[in-house]
Amino acid sequence: MTKMTTCVFDAYGTLFDVAAAARELAERPGREAFAEVWQQVANDWRLKQLQYSWLRAVARDHCDFWSVTGDGLDWALERAGLADMELREELMGLYFTLSAYPEVPEMLGRLKAAGLQTGILSNGSPDMLRGAVESAGLSDLLDAVLSVEDVGVFKPDMRVYDMIGQRFGCAPGDVLFVSANGWDAAFGAAYGFDTLWVNRGGEPMDRLTGKPGREARDLTGVAALVGA
Ligand code: LAC
Repeated sequence: MTKMTTCVFDAYGTLFDVAAAARELAERPGREAFAEVWQQVANDWRLKQLQYSWLRAVARDHCDFWSVTGDGLDWALERAGLADMELREELMGLYFTLSAYPEVPEMLGRLKAAGLQTGILSNGSPDMLRGAVESAGLSDLLDAVLSVEDVGVFKPDMRVYDMIGQRFGCAPGDVLFVSANGWDAAFGAAYGFDTLWVNRGGEPMDRLTGKPGREARDLTGVAALVGA
């Protein structure tokens, strides 16, 4: 096995907890009605956000991930019978500064201390990625934050995965690509990255062309995996 020099992470669902926005709002006083349905809203929101990204990629009808995120939320709130502008703006605000999973800062710190290159490769627009990275205090731990906006199409279009080699000047086999999205891990593996699927929910593996070579329940083992 070649020595991995570069660790690249998916953002939403992998470093940042996509359910955190709805969960945090559900805990706020005055949000009792939302608290009863927050999990359904969070699930629908994520599912529609991803579906819209794939559909827009297939239809060559790109718009940025912030718009897709808003569209997914509108669908989810209408389904829950809670379509109201104030609620929407509060949830979008929380999504902009989404919490990172607790193990993330230490894990990235160990990778940097061991001299590895680190980065994000995400559907997110540059603005929303900046918001999440800064609010989670991760700016100094990442060498690059790569957004699909540079190629104008969403994952899993292969032009997105090309961005890693272009930015870091490395071969796919030098990269550990880490994603909690099974489909993203599958396409990353098909592309030729050494791939870790972070399967927090214990879900079955997606039936797609590539199969991630590694699987874990969270990010705590990443540093050890690359010898950091
Ligand atoms: C991302 C989406 C897939 O961050 O969660 O690219």
